[in-house]
Amino acid sequence: MKAMRIHAFGGPEVLKLEDLPIPEPREGEFLVKVEAASLNPVDSKIREGKFPAVRADKLPLVMGRDLAGIVATRGAHASDQLKEGDTVYAMLGPDRGGYAEYAIVKAAEATRRPASLDAIAAGSVPLAGLTAWQGLFRYGELQGEQRVLIHGGSGGVGHFAIQFAKAKGAHVITTTSAAHLDFVRSIGADEAIDYRKQRFEDIVHDVDLVYDLVAGDTQERSFAVLKRGGILVSTLTEPDQEKARAHGVRALRYTVTENAAELDEIARLIDAGKVKPKVSKVFPLAEAAKAQQFLAEAHPEGKVVLRVAE
Ligand SMILES: NC(=O)c1ccc[n+]([C@@H]2O[C@H](COP(=O)([O-])OP(=O)(O)OC[C@H]3O[C@@H](n4cnc5c(N)ncnc54)[C@H](OP(=O)(O)O)[C@@H]3O)[C@@H](O)[C@H]2O)c1
Repeated sequence: MKAMRIHAFGGPEVLKLEDLPIPEPREGEFLVKVEAASLNPVDSKIREGKFPAVRADKLPLVMGRDLAGIVATRGAHASDQLKEGDTVYAMLGPDRGGYAEYAIVKAAEATRRPASLDAIAAGSVPLAGLTAWQGLFRYGELQGEQRVLIHGGSGGVGHFAIQFAKAKGAHVITTTSAAHLDFVRSIGADEAIDYRKQRFEDIVHDVDLVYDLVAGDTQERSFAVLKRGGILVSTLTEPDQEKARAHGVRALRYTVTENAAELDEIARLIDAGKVKPKVSKVFPLAEAAKAQQFLAEAHPEGKVVLRVAE
C-alpha cells in the first residue's frame, strides 16, 4: 500500500510517500481501507517532534490522526459492532496514521460514519469534532441556555464548536478575522467579532464559557468576560490558576482523546442536519506536505482533507 511516513522529525520535506505492506489487524482490531484522511495542526506538531506523546523511538511513523474508509477485515474477537464493508470514521491514537491506503483502527476509535456525508466530508470530522465536543460538553459543561465565547471560530475545531453549541441551544459569540465573519454567521454564530478590529472584552460580558482555540494574550484577556462561576477551557496552554481564582472562575487545558461513542452522537447531529462540516480544500495523498503547509499558512475555513482513494 502507499503511505505517507516520516523517518525523522523536521519540515514538510520529511514526509515520504512509501510502499509498505498492508498491516494485519491484531486481536480486537479492524483493518480499514482508507478513502479520506483529514489534516489537523497536531500533524505538523508531530512531524516537527513537538508532540510529547510521539518521541523519536516511535519513528518511522505513518502520519495522520483521522480517517474515513471501509472495514476490510476484522481481527480475532473484534467487536460485532462493525462488519466488513461498513463505512466508518475514526480518530486514531498517535501511534498509527490515516495518511495511507490501509490503516488499523481499534473498536474504541471507530464507528459508522454519518450516512448523509461522502468520504471526504466524513473524514474531516473525527479529531476536530471530538475536540469541540469534549471541550464544550465534557470540560466546559455547556448547557442549552448558556452563553459561550469561542475564540477561533472559523477553523477546524471552531466551526464544529459553533454548530454543536447552537444545536445545544446556547448563545454563541465568536472571534475570527474579517474574511470569515460571514462564514461563522452562516453556521450559526449569534455574534461575530473581528479580532483585528475590535477588542472582544469591550463588547462581551458575562459568558458562562470561554472556549479558547487561540491562547496567548487572547486567553489572558478572556478571564474578564466570564461570569463568576464560569469556565475557561483551552486546547492550547494551561491557564493561569491565580487569575482564575481572582475572577472566581475555573480554567483548564485538555487534550482530545479517541471516543467512538461521542463520534456516534456527532454522526446523529450531522444526519439530523444540525451540523455540516466544511471542507475548504482537498489534496491527493501524494501532496500531504503541500496540504500541511496550506493548513498552517492559509487559515482556511473548516477543514483540509487528503483524498486517499477514489
Ligand atoms: N489540545 C488538543 O487536544 C487539541 C485538539 C485540536 C486542536 N488543538 C489546537 O487548537 C487550535 C485550533 O485547532 P484547529 O484545528 O481549529 O486549527 P485551525 O483549523 O488552524 O484554526 C485555527 C483558527 O484560529 C483563527 N485565529 C488565529 N488567531 C486568532 C485570534 N487571535 N483570534 C481568533 N481567531 C484566531 C484562524 O483564522 P483567522 O485568523 O483567519 O480568523 C484559524 O482559522 C490549534 O492550535 C490546535 O493545535 C488542540
